[in-house]
Amino acid sequence: MTTVGELRRKTLEALNKPSYSISRKDMVLLNDNANLFGVNPAVLEVAESFDFARLWAYPSENSDALRERIASEYGVTSDEVIVGNGSDEILDITSKCFINPGDAYCTPTPTFGMYRFYGRLHLARVCEKQLKRDLSLDVESLLEERAKITAICQPNNPTAILFEFKSVKRVLREAYGLVLVDEAYADYSGSNMLPEVMNSEHALDLRTFSKAHGMAGLRVGFAIAHKEIIDELRSVRTPFGLNSFAEAAAIKALDNRSWISETVARTKEERSYLAPRLITLGFKVYPSDCNFLLCKAPVDGPALVSALRGEGVAIRDCNSYPLLENHVRITIGPRPMLDVLLDKLEHLLSVGSR
Ligand SMILES: Cc1ncc(COP(=O)(O)O)c(C=O)c1O
Repeated sequence: MTTVGELRRKTLEALNKPSYSISRKDMVLLNDNANLFGVNPAVLEVAESFDFARLWAYPSENSDALRERIASEYGVTSDEVIVGNGSDEILDITSKCFINPGDAYCTPTPTFGMYRFYGRLHLARVCEKQLKRDLSLDVESLLEERAKITAICQPNNPTAILFEFKSVKRVLREAYGLVLVDEAYADYSGSNMLPEVMNSEHALDLRTFSKAHGMAGLRVGFAIAHKEIIDELRSVRTPFGLNSFAEAAAIKALDNRSWISETVARTKEERSYLAPRLITLGFKVYPSDCNFLLCKAPVDGPALVSALRGEGVAIRDCNSYPLLENHVRITIGPRPMLDVLLDKLEHLLSVGSR
């Protein structure tokens, strides 16, 4: 009898899907960079008036109303916007659309692991170019591959910092293929690469409602690029990819910019609370332009992450990344959550040193 393993596509063998989910509701989840300060209240307002009885109807095929709203927000036309079921879907379709088997897909490393995953899924030759020791971009090595797709996360996850603008601009200017600039955390850094992306012939600016908007559970992401690129992406996208409620909620969320400023300010305040306390506990803490901190643990990183899990606190182990031995990534949340983390750390580190 044939096994499922034998039926599985042979090309999936080398695919290592990063796993994020931690299902325990009682855990303090400081591991996935969601907005722990809550959901954009616009979503709750939409829920009160939304016509759920109309959910028998399909949404618009390409989420036209949301594309219009995004276009007006960012000063582009709706033809230059595509929305996805999370920005993850856009990473998927970008590879699906542009990669022939064996084409180079270039990313810096360490960076967000899903670029590599989708590249490999669609049979790219993924080339990971190590950041310099100071965690800056090695622009020469990124450009030398003449890659079909080059993905740059700005600011970068998990290193938490913005790359120098001139480096990103140079990649945008000189890359042979498509440059995907992922600005998932731009609300926190206050940066914006969109003008440079739109100045380039082959580039894409990727955004998400999962971070500062606090809507990770609704799965809404989008990309802005020249119409020719958007048309190509649309040609491989699942129709009706975004559900009607998520679309309505995202439209309203964009009207509530003041909440974004508030949540970003609170994140920065709590980030400043956490960083010196981690330093006191012996961590090396890196500067951050994001809603998370990258830190080097004073002890074995993976063992610390696992001990914290046992205590009900999840943080991200970055040990397997180049340059980040014993490093961890901690999402910023409200102070009571951070105090739980600090208490557990104090306890674990004092037990460990006895
Ligand atoms: C850099 C980066 N891009 C994209 C995503 C995925 O976002 P979404 O929830 O929109 O799929 C994440 C999520 O952690 C991320 O860190």
